[in-house]
Amino acid sequence: MASKILLTCSCLILSLCFGGARAQGLSWSYYDVSCPSFEPIVRAQLKKVFKNDIGQAAGLLRLHFHDCFVRGCDGSVLLDGSASGPGEQSAPPNLSLRAEAFKIINDLRRRVHNKCGRVVSCADILAIAARDAVFLSGGPDYSIPLGRRDSLNFATVNEILENLLPPTSYTSALLVSMDRKGFTATDLVALSGGHTIGIAHCPSFARRLYPRDPTMDKTFAKNLNATCPTTNSTNTTVLDLRSPNTFDNKYYVDLMNHQGLLFSDQDLYTDKRTRDIVTAFAVNQTLFFDKFVKSMIKMSLLGVLTGSQGEVRANCSARNANAVLVSSVGEAEEKRSGF
Ligand code: HEM
Ligand SMILES: *[C@@H]1O[C@H](CO)[C@@H](O)[C@H](O)[C@H]1NC(C)=O
Ligand SMILES: *[C@@H]1O[C@H](CO)[C@@H](O)[C@H](O)[C@H]1NC(C)=O
Ligand SMILES: *[C@@H]1O[C@H](CO)[C@@H](O)[C@H](O)[C@H]1NC(C)=O
Ligand SMILES: *[C@@H]1O[C@H](CO)[C@@H](O)[C@H](O)[C@H]1NC(C)=O
Ligand SMILES: *[C@@H]1O[C@H](CO)[C@@H](O)[C@H](O)[C@H]1NC(C)=O
Ligand SMILES: *[C@@H]1O[C@H](CO)[C@@H](O)[C@H](O)[C@H]1NC(C)=O
Repeated sequence: MASKILLTCSCLILSLCFGGARAQGLSWSYYDVSCPSFEPIVRAQLKKVFKNDIGQAAGLLRLHFHDCFVRGCDGSVLLDGSASGPGEQSAPPNLSLRAEAFKIINDLRRRVHNKCGRVVSCADILAIAARDAVFLSGGPDYSIPLGRRDSLNFATVNEILENLLPPTSYTSALLVSMDRKGFTATDLVALSGGHTIGIAHCPSFARRLYPRDPTMDKTFAKNLNATCPTTNSTNTTVLDLRSPNTFDNKYYVDLMNHQGLLFSDQDLYTDKRTRDIVTAFAVNQTLFFDKFVKSMIKMSLLGVLTGSQGEVRANCSARNANAVLVSSVGEAEEKRSGF
C-alpha cells in the first residue's frame, strides 16, 4: 500500500519534472521485460566491489559525470581511443579517471549480458552504477529513466576541455557553463556535492598552497603542504576531509570552514550567488539529498541517444564490428540533429 502510494506519487512528480524524458525516448520501465535482473545484478556486484574498496564508488560517479557532460550520457567516455577513455593516449593529464572504473563497467556488462543477452547499453550500466555508488556509500536511493543507447564515436580532447572546466574555475565560469546545459545555480551546488566522496591529485589543487590561497584555512593548507611538497607531486588526498568515504552533506560543512580542497569548490562559498545554497545544504542533509537526486536525474538525461540511434555495445570499450554498416544512416541523422 505504502509503496503503491509512493509509486503514484513519484510518477506524478517525475512526469511533471521530467516529462521530457519520455519525449526523449527513455522510460522508467525500459528493461522490465527484457532484463528485469539488470539493476539487482549491478547492485549486488557493486556491494561486493565497494566492500573491498569503497574508493571505487567515487571513480564510478565521476565517470558518469564525465560521460554526460561531454556529448551526453552515451557511453562515449568508455570507448578505447576516447581522450579520457581506457586507452588514454591523448587524455589531458588532469583528468585522471580511475582505470579500475572502466574495468568494473565492463565486468558489470559481462554479467548483465550473460543473463539477458546484449540488450542493456553501456551508457545505462554506467548511469545505474553511478546511482548505486551514491546509495551504497550512504546517499539517497532513487530511480532513473533508462533506454540510453551507446555512441559510435568517442569525444576528442577539445570536446572534453570545452565541456569540463578545470578545478581552478571561478563560480562565474561554472554558472555560465552549467547554464548552457540547462542547469541552475542550485544544480551546480548540488552536483558539486559529488565531491563528498573520492580523492584528488596534487596538481588539481596544489597551486592554492604556493602561496596560500587566502580563502583556504591555514591549518588545512599547512597539512596539505606535507602531502604535496611540490605542485607536481603525484600524491592524492581526500576531497571531503570530514567524511571522505561517506556520501553525506559534510562537503558543504568543509566549504563553510574554508576547507574545500579545489578552488572551484571553495569559490561556491565565496560567491554571493551560491553561498546561501551551500549553507542550506550544510545545515539540512535532506534538502541536499532531494536537490542532488533531481540534478542527477537531470544530468542523466543530457544528450541521450535513444530508439535506433547508436547501438548497444557488446564490449563497452569498443563499438560493434558491424556498426558502420547498420548505423551509418542513424549516425548521419544524429549529426544533423546536433548531438
Ligand atoms: C563543477 C565542476 C567540477 C569540477 C571543476 C570538478 C573537478 C574535479 C577534479 C579536479 C577532481 C580530482 C581529479 C584528480 O585530481 O584526480 C574531481 C574528482 C571527483 N569529482 Fe569532480 N568536478 C566537478 C563536478 C563534479 C560532478 C558534477 C560530480 C558528480 C556528481 C563529480 C564527482 C567527482 C568525484 C566522485 C571525484 C573523485 C574521483 C575519484 O576519487 O576517483 N565532480 N573533480
Ligand atoms: C587540463 O589541463 C589543461 C592544460 O594542460 C587545461 O587547459 C584544462 O583546462 C584542464 N582541464 C581540466 C578539466 O582540468
Ligand atoms: C608551504 O610550504 C612552502 C615551502 O615549502 C611555503 O613557502 C608555503 O608558505 C607553505 N604554505 C603553507 C600554506 O603553509
Ligand atoms: C608525497 O610525495 C612526496 C614525494 O613527492 C613524498 O616525499 C611524501 O612523503 C608524500 N607525502 C604523503 C603524505 O604521502
Ligand atoms: C616538479 O616541480 C619542481 C618545481 O616545483 C621541479 O623542480 C621538478 O623538477 C619537477 N619534477 C618533475 C618530475 O617534473
Ligand atoms: C530540510 O529540508 C527538507 C526538504 O526540503 C524539509 O522538508 C525540512 O523541513 C528541512 N528541515 C529543516 C530543519 O529545515
Ligand atoms: C574490448 O575492446 C577492447 C578495445 O578494442 C579490447 O582491447 C578488449 O580486448 C575487448 N574485450 C573483449 C572481452 O573482447
